[in-house]
Amino acid sequence: MDALILRGEVLHFLDDPGAADHDASWQHWADGYLYLQHGRVAACGDWSARDAAALAGVPVHDHRGKLILPGLIDCHLHYAQAGVIGSFGRQLLDWLSDYTFPAEAAFSDPQLARRTAAFVLDRLLAHGTTTAAIFATVHPVSVDALMAEAEHRNMRLICGKVLMDRHAPDNLRDSAEQGVADSAALAARWHGRGRLHYAVTPRFAPTSSALQLQLAGELYASQPGLYVQSHLAENLAEIAWVGELFPGHRDYLHVYEHYGLVGPRCVYGHGIHLDDGQRARLAAGGASVAFCPTSNLFLGSGFFDYAAMLDAGVAVGLATDIGGGTSYSLIRTLGEAYKVSQWLKTPLSPLRGWYLATLGGARALRLDGCLGNFLPGKEADCIVLDPAATPELAFRLQHGGTLAERLFALSTLADERHVAATYVAGRPVSTPHLELTDADA
Ligand code: GUN
Ligand code: ZN
Repeated sequence: MDALILRGEVLHFLDDPGAADHDASWQHWADGYLYLQHGRVAACGDWSARDAAALAGVPVHDHRGKLILPGLIDCHLHYAQAGVIGSFGRQLLDWLSDYTFPAEAAFSDPQLARRTAAFVLDRLLAHGTTTAAIFATVHPVSVDALMAEAEHRNMRLICGKVLMDRHAPDNLRDSAEQGVADSAALAARWHGRGRLHYAVTPRFAPTSSALQLQLAGELYASQPGLYVQSHLAENLAEIAWVGELFPGHRDYLHVYEHYGLVGPRCVYGHGIHLDDGQRARLAAGGASVAFCPTSNLFLGSGFFDYAAMLDAGVAVGLATDIGGGTSYSLIRTLGEAYKVSQWLKTPLSPLRGWYLATLGGARALRLDGCLGNFLPGKEADCIVLDPAATPELAFRLQHGGTLAERLFALSTLADERHVAATYVAGRPVSTPHLELTDADA
C-alpha cells in the first residue's frame, strides 16, 4: 500500500496569523502524526488521537524531536543564474548585462540546461523547497530541461520561457511573435502535465516591446490556469527607464495593467518601490508579489514593505530570487526577511514568517487548493527540520521555549543543515545532501 505515517512535532497553517500571530490560524501537535496515502494527506493530529486500529501495519517514520512542516514554496527564482550567484559590485541593470545575460546565453545548450536544472532542483529539495516558480531563459530548450527534471522528481512546479525581444544581447533576443508562439507551444507541451504549470514570462517591461507585452497578455488570457511571472519596481534606475520607454503610462504597474498582465496567477518579483495606490491595484487585479530579501539586499535594491503589501490585500510569498539572491534556503531567506522588516519597524512575527514560507506561498501561487498545509486531500509535500542539527541552534534551544520562540530561533539560525528529510507527494526524496545525513545517522 502506498501509505506512510510520519511521527514528530507537527505544525501547519490554516490562515495568515497576522501581525499578532493569531492562534486560530495554525495547528500544532507536540507529538503529532501525519498520515500520507497515495501522495496526499489523509489525516493529521495528535499521535494519541490517531485511529491506531485503522493505521495498523502502516510504516512509521519516527521523527520525534524534529519539526514536520509543509514543504517550503519559493515564489521566484532563475535556475540559469545558479552559476552567477554572488557576483560582485553591480546593481540591477549592470548586474544583468555584466553577469546574468552572459550566463543565460549558454542555455541554448540542452545538455547544460538539463544538468543545471537537475542540480538546482536537487539543491532546492535538499534545502526544503518542494515547489517553486522558476524563470528559464529565452531558449525553449531551457524550459524543456527544467520541466523534464521536475517531472522526474514529481515536483509541483511553475516555469516559463523568458520573453525578451529588445534591450538584450543578440543571442538572447526572441521576436515578439516568435517568442510568444514558442511560449504557446511550451504551454501546450507542459501546462497541466502531471504537477507542472506554465508561466508566460516577460522578463520585465524594459526587455519586451509593446507588441510582445500585448501578445503575452493575449496568451495568458487564452487558456485557463496559465501563469504570468515577471519583475516589478525592483530598482530606481529600472523604474526611471520604464518611464522613458513607456511614456504614455501613469507608472510601471500601469504598463502591465494595460497589456492584461495583472490578474490571478500573475506573480511579480520584488514590488519594492510602490505606493499604497499601486498596492491596491495589485490587490484588485488579484496579482501576487514575491518578497526576495536576500536579492534586494545583495543588489542594493531596497526594503520591501511586506506589511503594507499584506495590509493592502496582496498575496505575498517568499522567494530566493537565485541568482540575485544569495541562498537556496527559504529558511535563511526568512531570517533576512525579518531583518528587512525590522528596518521598516514592522517586525515579521515568528508564526507569520513560517506561514509566508508555506501556505502564504501557496496562496501567492494560487496553489492553496492542493498545497500549503496538511488539510486532508492536500498533496503530501513536507519537510522535517532537526533543531539539533547544529550545535549553535541546539545550544540556543537547550531550554526549549514557546512555539513562537523556537520558530523564531529556527528562522534566525537554521538553514539547509537542519533539513533532515524532504517528502514529495508522500515519498521521501533522496538528494546528495540527504544521503549524507542518512549516512551520518
Ligand atoms: N529584472 C529583470 N530581470 C531580472 C533578473 O534576472 N533578476 C532580478 N533580480 N531582477 C530582474
Ligand atoms: Zn528575478
